[in-house]
Amino acid sequence: MHNIIKVTEKVYWIGENDRRTELFENMWPIPNGVSYNSYLIVDEKTALLDTLEYGSSEDYLEKIERILNGRELDYLIINHMEPDHSGSIRMVVNKYPNVKLVGNLKTFKIVESYFGFKENWFEIADNDELDLGYHKLKFVMTPWVHWPETMMTYDLTDKILFSGDAFGSFGTLDGGVFDDEIEFEEYYEADMRRYFSNIVGKYCNMVQKAFKKLEGVEVKYVCATHGPIWRKNAKKVLSLYNKWSNYETEDGVVIIYGSMYGNTAKLADFIARKLSEQGIKKIRVHDASKTHLSYLINEIWKYKGVILGSSAYNSAMLPSVENLTRTLEHMGVKNHLLGLFGSYSWNGGGVKNLHKFQEKIQWDLVADPVDIKGIPDDTAFEQCKVIADAMSKKLLNK
Ligand SMILES: Cc1cc2nc3c(=O)[nH]c(=O)nc-3n(C[C@H](O)[C@H](O)[C@H](O)COP(=O)(O)O)c2cc1C
Ligand SMILES: [Fe+2]
Ligand SMILES: [Fe+2]
Repeated sequence: MHNIIKVTEKVYWIGENDRRTELFENMWPIPNGVSYNSYLIVDEKTALLDTLEYGSSEDYLEKIERILNGRELDYLIINHMEPDHSGSIRMVVNKYPNVKLVGNLKTFKIVESYFGFKENWFEIADNDELDLGYHKLKFVMTPWVHWPETMMTYDLTDKILFSGDAFGSFGTLDGGVFDDEIEFEEYYEADMRRYFSNIVGKYCNMVQKAFKKLEGVEVKYVCATHGPIWRKNAKKVLSLYNKWSNYETEDGVVIIYGSMYGNTAKLADFIARKLSEQGIKKIRVHDASKTHLSYLINEIWKYKGVILGSSAYNSAMLPSVENLTRTLEHMGVKNHLLGLFGSYSWNGGGVKNLHKFQEKIQWDLVADPVDIKGIPDDTAFEQCKVIADAMSKKLLNK
């Protein structure tokens, strides 16, 4: 007997857990796995909302069949075409050849290029409605969260927001599926922020636009395509995404450094201690060559203060730090306090390029960059203390 879970009387969750994939999008580590959520509405008309990744579940069609109990599938609503949700579209269409594919013009361009389908399209535009009988659905275009065709489907009847990837999270649903059945802060919050920052973080302004469109809409349930379903406290997930897409952070500091022989690392530990002596409690230190980019980005999304260090490496930063700065630039991350430090032996290159990064990203540099020649001496440590003091002062508003 498969897990068949009702969200409301006529709405079913028919998602799947993925504990096998190492890297989401073949890029981001998912040690706690991920769920792909698909929803089925069984009303006078029947509608499936998004599908699963191809091959993620052999049971998927069986679940749909069992719930439909001999009935036809009338609509397949496609909120998002990324293959983690569109992968099973062909399978569904093969099984239900008369199903109408519901999407916007941009959706269909992608559908055609993926599957070659040119028929049974049911094109909708912003604010269009679809009457299923009891349930009345309304479509809200939310482009670029995080693909061009992304949209949300709002159920006017039960006040359910089928939000696509927005409001989603990494982490499988281990028994508990709804927010009131899980320990969110303990098991999901960090993974949710990592999902947000890694996958959607580049599109914060588009997330904010989506919020503007949803203003005044009563949302009782948030049904995203990954992670828990929100029914007790839907406001919580909305406010977290609102905060993160506004670049609102905590008063802490993450120090991230790249170091071959330990000189830059020593400076990192020294700066961390000085921050602590100044009363900063939230301090994390990471070696960029060891900790995956995914987690580094997540820490930067969490803390206001960012202190980056790199030794010089062939007239440049250490590649692990360079990769991080390039990614942050590409994502256009905003609103941080910054400190820079590092070590070199002849003409430098690490801190110089970190400084160029600062000029591009325009974060608020709290003190002059510290570039140490050779092994750090007392003067070098004194210079680093200046960064720590300036950073604490700004964070604690001293
Ligand atoms: C492969 C390699 C490349 C380096 N390239 C440079 C360079 O371009 N410019 C420079 O001033 N120092 C260069 N150095 C020297 C280091 O930046 C210097 O020894 C620094 O103190 C190392 O800091 P770390 O212990 O934090 O790795 C290089 C060292 C290595 C091993
Ligand atoms: Fe996606
Ligand atoms: Fe997704």
